[in-house]
Amino acid sequence: MMPMKKLKKTQGFNRRKFVKTSAIATGGALFIPSLLSAKAHVDGDDAIKVALIGCGGRGTGAAMQALLTQQNVNLVAMADAFRDQLDSCYATLTADDISDWSGAEGSVKERVRVPEEHKFVGFDGYLKAIPLADVVILTTPPGFRPIHFEEAIRQGKHVFTEKPMATDAPGVRKVLAAAEEAKKKKLNVVVGLQRHYQTIYREWVERMQAGAIGDIVTSHVYWNNDGVWVRAREEFSQKAGRPLTEMEYQMRNWYYFNWLCGDHICEQHIHNLDVGNWVKNAYPVRAQGMGGRQVRVGKDFGEIFDHHFIEYEYEDGSRMFSQCRHQPGTMSRVTEVFQGSRGFAPRPGVLVSRSGQEIMKYDDRQDPNPYQVEHDQLFDAIAKGEYRYHDAENGAHATMTSILGRMASYSGNIVEWEAAINSELSIMPAKFSWDAQPPVLPDKEGMYPCAVPGKTKVL
Ligand SMILES: NC(=O)c1ccc[n+]([C@@H]2O[C@H](COP(=O)([O-])OP(=O)(O)OC[C@H]3O[C@@H](n4cnc5c(N)ncnc54)[C@H](O)[C@@H]3O)[C@@H](O)[C@H]2O)c1
Repeated sequence: MMPMKKLKKTQGFNRRKFVKTSAIATGGALFIPSLLSAKAHVDGDDAIKVALIGCGGRGTGAAMQALLTQQNVNLVAMADAFRDQLDSCYATLTADDISDWSGAEGSVKERVRVPEEHKFVGFDGYLKAIPLADVVILTTPPGFRPIHFEEAIRQGKHVFTEKPMATDAPGVRKVLAAAEEAKKKKLNVVVGLQRHYQTIYREWVERMQAGAIGDIVTSHVYWNNDGVWVRAREEFSQKAGRPLTEMEYQMRNWYYFNWLCGDHICEQHIHNLDVGNWVKNAYPVRAQGMGGRQVRVGKDFGEIFDHHFIEYEYEDGSRMFSQCRHQPGTMSRVTEVFQGSRGFAPRPGVLVSRSGQEIMKYDDRQDPNPYQVEHDQLFDAIAKGEYRYHDAENGAHATMTSILGRMASYSGNIVEWEAAINSELSIMPAKFSWDAQPPVLPDKEGMYPCAVPGKTKVL
């Protein structure tokens, strides 16, 4: 996955470019099914019906990927907190040319069957959209994921859900409980930790798990880059023609509020932490670390840190050293590196013996785009009536790994996995409505309180 390189004030263009770039970066000639065969399917009742919850950048991309699979798939319902987001997503999905988004010519508009009465706006739209579908795509900010995932599974739906799966421990536990129910009901769940659907990673991790470089003694994982968009309060107030309520503002600028985002250690670095756990085939038992905000300060940036450095410890005593930083002008590195007792994994796809001999060098230039593979495989399983994918448990534990790291850097103390995952501390609002108070509020100057290591309580 390509890091997003530039700070942008708005999301549309940046995300579009990101989806396109990531298709190209993964060698990803995206497969567009022939429009003829797509048309042959769309009129039947046997279409797999999809509801999209969260119609932003990733939701638009994921819906498109679902509609681009070889299966007979129709989008039948859409839900978003904001009408403008829903409308812009609908316009993209029904465009004559989707090449800006998909990296290939074509259109999926005939597969978009969303009448006006199946477009739902507000906090409870998911309750109305889910019953209309066989498969639910969950692509809101992660704070809502436990609520939406629990409801989709309760209603017996297959799910594609983006990561992270939650922003606090009570949310992780809710997801784990729903994951158990999904298994009992044999509902396929794919989580957008797309490296698991990327051949170079699958082969690399498999070789390491088979002992190609011996025991893994040290892991280094990185998500260091410039950062992401910021959505200014003034811009959305102007569009609305009135001041935003605090809830509206935080929902627009969600990246910078923990209840919605979980901090960037959760929102982005989860990918690399997940790879670290995957290679070790384990989750950490404790973590300690440090972090803060030096560059990304000011009232536009809510409460999250701009850097974290965490030392995770596994049960076998090995360590995973994790760096994530959002600071423009600094070294950009998004990758994973492993040191084994008999060799070295300097980057994805490459393994080197202790004597310096290359034992693996994987060329991924012809590989398919993992974002598309996730949907191809999920919808193939559903179309064949097979139960194949149960990613939710790992998705929840990967999320917990990143929350554990946040707890470590916010507190400046050693935090044990068991204490962290059993924490009752909820960071979510008590109520969801446009005039309800979010859990963190600005002071008179518009500044939000941030964690202070040594003082902040995280459990
Ligand atoms: N796997 C990946 O590589 C990848 C890439 C990008 C984003 N993501 C994930 O996708 C998710 C969405 O990110 P994005 O970049 O699309 O953000 P975005 O801001 O572009 O879209 C989020 C959308 O959800 C809507 N929303 C918020 N709360 C809602 C609610 N309660 N009900 C319905 N809609 C709601 C917002 O209005 C917005 O339209 C995040 O979890 C992010 O981590 C994953």
